Order: sequence, then structure tokens, then C-alpha cells
Amino acid sequence: MSTTFTPDDADAQSAGYNYDESKVASYTLPDPLLCADGTKVTDAKIWREKRRPEILELFRTHMYGRSPAKPAGLVYEAGATDTKALGGKATRREIHIFLDGKKGGHRMTLLLYLPNGAKQPVPAFLGMNFEGNHTIDADPGITISEQWTSDGKERPDKLVKPAETTRGKSIGRWPLEMILARGYAVATVARADVEPDYATGWKHGLRAALSKDGANTQWNTDDWGAVAAWGWGLSRALDYLETDKAVDSKRVALLGHSRLGKAALWAGAEDERFAIVISNNSGEGGAALARRNFGETVERINTSFPHWFCTNFKKYNQDVHHLPVDAHQLIALAAPRPVYVASAEEDKWADPKGEFLSAKFAEPVYRLFNKAGLGVASWPPVNTPVGDVIGYHLRTGKHDVTDYDWARYLDFADRHFRKEKKN
Ligand code: GCU
Repeated sequence: MSTTFTPDDADAQSAGYNYDESKVASYTLPDPLLCADGTKVTDAKIWREKRRPEILELFRTHMYGRSPAKPAGLVYEAGATDTKALGGKATRREIHIFLDGKKGGHRMTLLLYLPNGAKQPVPAFLGMNFEGNHTIDADPGITISEQWTSDGKERPDKLVKPAETTRGKSIGRWPLEMILARGYAVATVARADVEPDYATGWKHGLRAALSKDGANTQWNTDDWGAVAAWGWGLSRALDYLETDKAVDSKRVALLGHSRLGKAALWAGAEDERFAIVISNNSGEGGAALARRNFGETVERINTSFPHWFCTNFKKYNQDVHHLPVDAHQLIALAAPRPVYVASAEEDKWADPKGEFLSAKFAEPVYRLFNKAGLGVASWPPVNTPVGDVIGYHLRTGKHDVTDYDWARYLDFADRHFRKEKKN
């Protein structure tokens, strides 16, 4: 399987940022088990009922912003179907989901591949794609995405309409046959169907569609940003999967790469129906500890991508040590569900060690549920996956999603989803 996809933008490390471990200043992380009233969480019940809601609120207020509730009566419309896709190995379906609950309203198209011949509902991997459903495979039957995209540019000055020439462009990141052969469905939606990724992209996206003032909305400082909007769209994809009898919606693993890994982690925190959450190279604003000054910083992310987080997050540009939360608490919000954090050795911009440490510092919360964490005290060597309910690996190579990553996620999902079936 080819992995020659040119990463969107995060490959080059920006100059002027710290990549030297010896220059990482000391920092103190907020204690996931210390409640706002100064009492300590001593069991899973107190975590669930008191501390977890507190942390969720802090992330909503200071970082991702507040998302609206699920709209009443989502509308689905069946699109193209092919029961003999991928040489007969799979059934391909497209389902249009009207995110504002109105037929003809704001539309996101879910692309679903189901392994043929399954005797019972199958578990699934759900993930958002960067540049359109048609980029995930060369399958000529996938409808070319309709939303204009940024064509992979980090700070686009103009958008492009997806073209036939981009069909299969991201195939290296979506090894469909490998996933289907293991008995999993693959579901994906395009980020631009939810919100085109540039500063004023929201005016053409879901956030405007759901706001009474549309493109003239004046956002409150804790209103949702693009990352939360993408995450919300992923929850709506899961709403659909719950209605599809071919899929076991209780076994859906949510996976995201990079900025879409941030969205996956946040969606997994907000929506506990996701049975597994996987962060692939999500970096700053995702799995990497914000307080570690290594690679991308809060100030840089808020400057390059002012639309990703809520306005309140910008208060911490110069003051990250006062951010009331950090990434280990985001990982902990997945507990007690299995969560996987993956890093790439050359992806220094995402702070691989900071990604590992957030997984590590989420362990006390998993311990409340008697769940084993990473099982290692320090950052493991490359290509050495570790962990049980919290999984982690550092792979060789660049910022990307590779077959190596997928093989680990498939093993992880097998371990947790198929456990009971082994006996
Ligand atoms: C940029 C950004 C990262 C992000 C990445 C991506 O590099 O600075 O925070 O994860 O893009 O989404 O590819």
C-alpha cells in the first residue's frame, strides 16, 4: 500500500520553535483528580458525576467552545450504492445527512464501505477526511465531494472545487482492503462538508447554518470553533450509523489525524457513544501537552488557525501555564473507554513526547476503573507499541497515517471489541 501522500502541511517544522528536549521548561499540570472545591476524586462514581463534568466544562469554556445539542429529527437521504465495490469485496453506500435537520439544508455526505458476506452487524472505523470522500480511494464510484476545499494548504488564500484529478489522492491514509479484510466497516465524511478550513470558512459551514444570524453571527467567547464543529459532525455520522443495521454502532472506533485528531479527541470526550478514540499525530490542541514548550505553541495555533478554537483560548497565548486544563485531561475524558495515542518520530511539530506524556498522565483516571494504562514508565522506543486500555506508539517517519498505524489500530480494536468472542 502506498504511503506517498504528501502531507497537508505539517511536514515542515516551523523555524523559531523549540525542538530541544533540554530546553523544555518545567511545568505543573492540573490534577485530573482534584475537584474545583479542593476535594480529591477517590472512586469512579465521583469521577463520573462530579470531576468529569467539571473538566468537560473547562474544555468547553476555555478551549473548544460550546457545541449545540443534537438537532431534533436529523434527515438522511440515501445516495449511490454499489453492492460489488472493490472487486466485489465490499458494499459502498453514500448517505446524505442534513445537519440542520432540514431536507435541502446543510448537507454532509457519509461514505460507508461494508465488508460483504458479514453474518452480523460489523464494528466500524469512523474518521473525517481532509479533502473529500473521493480522495480516500481510487474507486470510480465515489461521488466527488461538492464542497470547496483548501486543497491541503495550511493557510489558503483561495478555495478549490474538488476535481476528478484528486480521486484517490489520500489512498495511502485509508487502506480500505486491509481494514475490510479484518471485518470492519469504514465510514468517512469530509471536513469541508462541516466547515471549510479557513478563518472565515464558518460563514459557509455548519456553524453559520445552525446560527440564527447565519454568516453575520457575532460569536461569544465560549462559542464553538471549527474543531468542535468537525467533532459535532462526527457525532451526527454516528447518529446515522446507529440507524444502519449492517453496523454495530456500539463498536465504532473514532479515528482522526492531525487537526482532525484534535476533533476526534474532542468528539470522543463530548460523545461517550464512541467506543474507542484514536488520535493520530494530533499534536497541539490535541494529544500534546500544551504546557510543554516543544514544537507548536498555543500562540502559534491560535494565530495560524484563529477559527479552530473558541475565542477564550487566545487568552492563553502568552500564558499557557494558567490554562485550566491540559491534554492529559482530554485523554482522561475518554475513560474508561479504550483510547490510543500515536506519534511519529519526525513529527516534532506535534511534540511526540508531549503526546506520550498526556496518555501517561491520564492513567490515574483509568486506575479508578481498574484499567491498566500504558504499562511503561517512560517513552518507548520507536515502533514498539505499548499499553492496554490506553495504547501508544511512536512510529518511524513523518506526520502521516500509514499502514503501520492502521495495523496497530486494528489490533487494538480487535483486542477490545472482540475480547468476549475469543472464548
Ligand atoms: C498544522 C497545524 C497542526 C495541525 C496540522 C494538520 O501543522 O499547525 O496543529 O495538526 O497542521 O492538521 O495537518
